[in-house]
Amino acid sequence: MAKPMVSGAAAALLTLGAAVPPAAVSDEHVDPVAFVDQFEATAGKYEGFRRSGAKGICATGEFVGTPEARALSTASAFSGEPVPVIVRFSVGGANPSAPDNVRGQRNLALQFDLPGGERWQMGNISSPVFGASTPQQLFALLASREPDPETGEADPERVRAFNEANPNALLQAQYFASQPVPASYASTRYWGVSAFGFINAEGAVRYGKWVFEPEGGVQGLTDEEAEALGPDFLFDELRERVADGSGAFEFNLQLAEPGDVIDDATVALPDDRETVTLGRLEVTSVAEDAGGECLTITFNPMILPEGMKPSADPMIPARAAPYAISLSRRLTEGAKQ
Ligand code: HEM
Repeated sequence: MAKPMVSGAAAALLTLGAAVPPAAVSDEHVDPVAFVDQFEATAGKYEGFRRSGAKGICATGEFVGTPEARALSTASAFSGEPVPVIVRFSVGGANPSAPDNVRGQRNLALQFDLPGGERWQMGNISSPVFGASTPQQLFALLASREPDPETGEADPERVRAFNEANPNALLQAQYFASQPVPASYASTRYWGVSAFGFINAEGAVRYGKWVFEPEGGVQGLTDEEAEALGPDFLFDELRERVADGSGAFEFNLQLAEPGDVIDDATVALPDDRETVTLGRLEVTSVAEDAGGECLTITFNPMILPEGMKPSADPMIPARAAPYAISLSRRLTEGAKQ
């Protein structure tokens, strides 16, 4: 059950009987346990599965960094030597049976296993913007979509009130609605959406937002093609592409300029910002079943190598504890995918 997230001030108003808009965005810290409870209350609880990005598949890959990346950051990921990567592709949402043949979010999560036991973890999504700029706004968004136990549907008034007050939270869904159904996990762009800092040998920090661009180009399906493929085609399709050697991505960074918004994942950088290719990720194998190295790990964006730092975007640190709670729940339930 979701715990009520009521700030001290709001609680006082409630006691006085004043109207507090449902699903209002509080400025209180969001308790990570309440956060994961709210994911379950809104999106459903599927034991053993990730509370978000549940339908997924493990893969492995190799990353090679460029000289341009080395000029920006001392991170060993960019040494130019091949680096092994644990990869997980998934469909957005908590439902492990989510259909593959509908518009919406696809994810690319990565763990770079670097020399000396260093790791770099990241979760990227198939939209240039996220659906919330703060953890409080994400919590309120989820709360506004919680189904009424009577009707099984979210309260339309509550949804309307949230939407009217939070237009930036709707940009992600609008982006997905404007895109075709992805033809393949390997023909989709995946954005980091938050800015990160790249620290070079002189200690200078450049901030930027990254995107993984499919080497073979972006491919979508017509509605008829999607219908004909049915709800479960992405895993086999990926296995075929990777067996053909065509599952590679360019890792590109858009560099922020002074004055750009770099602390808000609902705001993309301007299109004309300089882009640097940081390297090439090649997916080299895909799990044959629901196992694989990605099964028992979580992708925490605070796990960064030397030479990288988070920006001031509050969504970066806010992910660490809920991911750990989701991980601990699914591990104790018996990790599945
Ligand atoms: C406070 C904000 C957020 C919360 C509370 C949250 C919560 C979660 C949870 C609970 C999981 C499942 C973790 C697991 O069991 O391993 C997850 C997965 C994921 N999240 Fe978030 N999330 C947040 C923000 C974001 C943002 C901003 C992005 C954008 C890149 C994102 C991308 C992903 C991806 C790609 C996955 C799937 C990773 C995988 O394959 O394991 N999340 N999130």
